[in-house]
Amino acid sequence: MENNEVQPIGVTQKTMATIADVVTSTINRAICAAGFSPIPSNARGKMRYSIEDTRRVLSRFISDKYKVTKKIQCFYNFKGGVGKTSICFQVASHLALCGFKVLVIDADPQGHLSTSFGFNNDESYCTLYDAIIGVKTINEVIRNIYDGLDCIPSNLSLTRTEVSLNEMPKREERVKILLQPLVNKYDFIIFDTNPTISYLNRNVLTCCDIVNIIVETQAYSLNGVKLLLSDIKAFCDSMMIGLPEIFMFPNKYEDRSATSAEAIVALNQIYPQYLMPNFAIRKSEEFNIASKLSKPLAFFCRNNSIAFDDVMDMIRFLINKSSEK
Ligand SMILES: Nc1ncnc2c1ncn2[C@@H]1O[C@H](COP(=O)(O)OP(=O)(O)OP(=O)(O)O)[C@@H](O)[C@H]1O
Ligand SMILES: [Mg+2]
Repeated sequence: MENNEVQPIGVTQKTMATIADVVTSTINRAICAAGFSPIPSNARGKMRYSIEDTRRVLSRFISDKYKVTKKIQCFYNFKGGVGKTSICFQVASHLALCGFKVLVIDADPQGHLSTSFGFNNDESYCTLYDAIIGVKTINEVIRNIYDGLDCIPSNLSLTRTEVSLNEMPKREERVKILLQPLVNKYDFIIFDTNPTISYLNRNVLTCCDIVNIIVETQAYSLNGVKLLLSDIKAFCDSMMIGLPEIFMFPNKYEDRSATSAEAIVALNQIYPQYLMPNFAIRKSEEFNIASKLSKPLAFFCRNNSIAFDDVMDMIRFLINKSSEK
């Protein structure tokens, strides 16, 4: 790990090359042609480029080539602690670095995603709750994190949403109605959800084009998945809406663990249609570190980071599945 105290926020040419899946000299040429300079730094070591410049470079290789048609997505599982928030944080942050315009919505009153983005988890800021009950407009609860990345943060006030939604007409569709004016402003609108069966999660399901289920590669994790899938199907039937596209991403995979291997084999046998082929997010302490530092992996990871490699593979898969070229 690099000494984070002296590293400015920014992205190296090598990291940009990994994100764009090209060689570093291609990125170097694009940077020179655009006349971008690295961020001034007292730290010895690699040159880093600002988020704005990184997005300008990477948009030519990534976001400019895709028209995103399945914009609204969530990270979902009723089981707690599987990695929804950690993966949501990384996916949303890196999609923005790829040049996309991203809104990430924290739909969990625990507010862990908001904490990762640097919010202090008190009730001093507005959340989706304020927009749902109508004391703020949806635009008033959106906060900018950095260029290309906006967030609707959460805190414990979001727990009040359940009672309020219960008393409203179209209580499963309130969030979908709120999002309508935003759909043309963003390439991706991504929810982190809470690990419960709640009206808020029902609202998220109602508006999502894609549901990304994060599954731990552990014994018994499959039991929960079966329940989860049947709940999603039953809910969509009851609402008379089509099923969203569903993907499953196994997480916390350990190379030398028989339990991990068994879980992957079982998932492949039962749910091959939902899985990204030959893929699992490996267990890595870097996910913890990234959340604690409030930084996407691209800002601090080493060249050979397995966490960064896995997140980028997942992002490429999601971009392809969400878009027309
Ligand atoms: N691939 C991984 N490798 C190592 N640790 C991970 C990985 N993914 C997540 N974690 C860790 O697992 C813990 C739980 O992750 P996280 O908070 O993202 O789960 P969650 O599903 O959002 O939980 P909750 O349901 O409570 O919201 C965190 O400490 C996180 O850093
Ligand atoms: Mg979470």
